[in-house]
Amino acid sequence: MLNIVIFGAPGSGKGTQSQKLIEKYHLTHISTGDILRNEIEHHTKLGELANKYMTKGQLVPDSVVIDILDELFVHNPDSVGYIFDGFPRTLTQGEALDAMLVKRNTAINVVISLEVDDDHLTERLIKRGEISGRNDDTPETIKSRLQVYYQQTSPLKEYYAEQGKLVKIDGLGTVDDIFSRIEKVIDKRDY
Ligand code: AP5
Ligand code: MG
Repeated sequence: MLNIVIFGAPGSGKGTQSQKLIEKYHLTHISTGDILRNEIEHHTKLGELANKYMTKGQLVPDSVVIDILDELFVHNPDSVGYIFDGFPRTLTQGEALDAMLVKRNTAINVVISLEVDDDHLTERLIKRGEISGRNDDTPETIKSRLQVYYQQTSPLKEYYAEQGKLVKIDGLGTVDDIFSRIEKVIDKRDY
């Protein structure tokens, strides 16, 4: 199996690069953000709960997203591998993910961290907010999403670095340039 975590701040290109990774490696894409937005769209109880946090740019509680993930594994038992996009976001989620993978005799192979500075991140998200209207792409919510990233999520880099799995990639440039940097990392490893 090939299990990749695509890691990075809001707007760093996780979703964009995930699409290209799926095409090339036929992985199952797991984006907790997409799942939660789908719940909101369908007015479910889970969506109602998640929306309270997402509109403020805060994280949805660990137990909620960990349960979602556990269920996804059950429904995709034959996948050749997974790409985790926007999960894990806390150390608790990282440890839970490792435990879930161990139960299935597998593990994370590599963590690709897309490195983009705050000015570019903000610019990308504001631009998207103006066109597509994701309701957390407002200047105020973007600020809090970035704060939450640095406080609660970026410490995971250390967790994966200690396991020898963290690879930092320059997240600036064209989408194709960035993807070719990622491909090189994945293809040179012997999984
Ligand atoms: P989530 O949906 O994961 O959003 P995010 O991490 O804030 O990041 P984005 O999806 O906005 O950015 P991205 O890195 O995917 O970049 P993208 O490719 O879209 O989470 C949303 C919320 O859900 C969270 O705030 C939280 O509340 C909740 N949540 C989700 N998961 C959770 C979890 N595990 N635990 C708790 N809560 C959770 O690109 C961004 C923009 O830039 C696009 O417009 C794109 O076209 C553009 N772009 C991409 N690449 C380039 C490039 N190379 N050059 C120029 N522009 C580019
Ligand atoms: Mg995304």
